[in-house]
Amino acid sequence: MDSENSLVIVGAQWGDEGKGKVIDYLASEADVVVRFQGGDNAGHTVVFGANIFKLHHIPSGILNQGTLSLLGNGMVVNPLVLVEELEELEKRGIGTGNLRISSKAHLIMTYHKVLDEANEKLLGEKKIGTTGRGIGPAYADKALRRGLRAIDLTDPDSFRNRLSQVLPLQNRLLKEACDHPGFDLDELIELYRPVCERLAPLVTDTSLLLSRQLEAGKRVLFEGAQGTLLDIDHGTYPFVTSSSTVAASASSGSGVGPNHIGQVLGVLKAYTTRVGEGPFPTEEVGDAGELLRMQGNEYGTTTGRPRRCGWFDAVIARYSARVNGLSGLAVTKLDVLSGLETINMAVAYECDGNRIEEFPQDIEGLKKCQPVYEFLPGWDEDISRVRSFEELPSAAKSYLKALEETTGVAVELISVGPDRSQTIIVPGSTPEHWRKL
Ligand code: GDP
Ligand code: IMO
Ligand code: MG
Repeated sequence: MDSENSLVIVGAQWGDEGKGKVIDYLASEADVVVRFQGGDNAGHTVVFGANIFKLHHIPSGILNQGTLSLLGNGMVVNPLVLVEELEELEKRGIGTGNLRISSKAHLIMTYHKVLDEANEKLLGEKKIGTTGRGIGPAYADKALRRGLRAIDLTDPDSFRNRLSQVLPLQNRLLKEACDHPGFDLDELIELYRPVCERLAPLVTDTSLLLSRQLEAGKRVLFEGAQGTLLDIDHGTYPFVTSSSTVAASASSGSGVGPNHIGQVLGVLKAYTTRVGEGPFPTEEVGDAGELLRMQGNEYGTTTGRPRRCGWFDAVIARYSARVNGLSGLAVTKLDVLSGLETINMAVAYECDGNRIEEFPQDIEGLKKCQPVYEFLPGWDEDISRVRSFEELPSAAKSYLKALEETTGVAVELISVGPDRSQTIIVPGSTPEHWRKL
């Protein structure tokens, strides 16, 4: 059964959980890594030795030279940014010849970015705090059936035709939203000509390619971007991104049936962060939050914004386990908690005098929730050189056990630093099986 050869990796909080690191680590044994949603709002960091790579569109498997990297149909791709990303990697000696783009992926165009910023301004204090990459407007155009797709990059006539159909309306929207003078068709075509030429050979039927790889018994990692609470359906709407970030989206966003989906690894930080606006029950705005930000270096990979920081929230983790069908947890940044006397873990919420165990369905309900904490003992040891579960200080082991008990999902991978090597695989776990396949 080829589902044994596939592993879906998703963010189980509000993004930036360390997905890039975990995917890069597992990609050494993968034949294919496919991104299935989102765009360059993602910032996935991969570190090995003195090398730091920040990937936005490109799957985190690209650093393993044999691995095929696919941008799936569920993605929105900014061709101008993608070409910069490819050039940057090539300049640093990373071959990108194994990258392919789904012909059905939608394009983020210059006007989408302007509209994203204008929408945020119009919302004023109620803004979402987007990454400003044009993600929302690009997905909206996809749903409104007026988007351009990667296939349009491959034929200059089709690109011109499609753009000439949609540009007048986009220009009207720009005028209305922010009194923008609009874009000229010929100027846009000139702007995009070199990137069309560069990307056209990479555009293909990635669904077919992926199915054939799966049929041939190749090992496939599905790389999620953002996180469960940013999912358009299951997240903290409207403070979410515009795509489906949960595990089920791996199937529709890459064009293979759900029978190909095997295990689902949810990546979680040992605490919680969030960028952008919206409620965050365990947020610490005082010294504790500042300490986590400093020790965890919590600044956005894509925008450089300081990330909001708080304690681990087991209500969220349980919810993520349910909506993704998580089979295991990858807990990252455990090293950041070293030196704390006590570590808070929210195990439930209190709302209007009632104890709540399940994540509220609406944002107004969530805003009223106060975390119910358990207080766990911390540890002083530097754990960044630890490479096995047994070597961890007993308080760190107890913390992970508490996290497992409260979520009901086994911890299978533990990360104790940004580097590839700073990774612990739990014996008998799916990642261990994956590495040994
Ligand atoms: P992603 O979007 O989920 O891939 O996560 P980001 O790359 O945006 O943010 C995670 C940050 O934490 C990056 O700077 C990583 O290099 C770093 N990181 C990942 N795992 C660990 C870890 O276990 N410990 C520490 N200290 N840093 C980590
Ligand atoms: P990775 O893949 C963290 C957040 C933005 C904003 C909301 C909507 O690195 O985990 P958008 O630009 O998508 O319309 O913004 O979603 N956001 C992320 N937060 N990590 C990300 O990606 C994010 N991508 C979007 O901050 O709150
Ligand atoms: Mg990130």
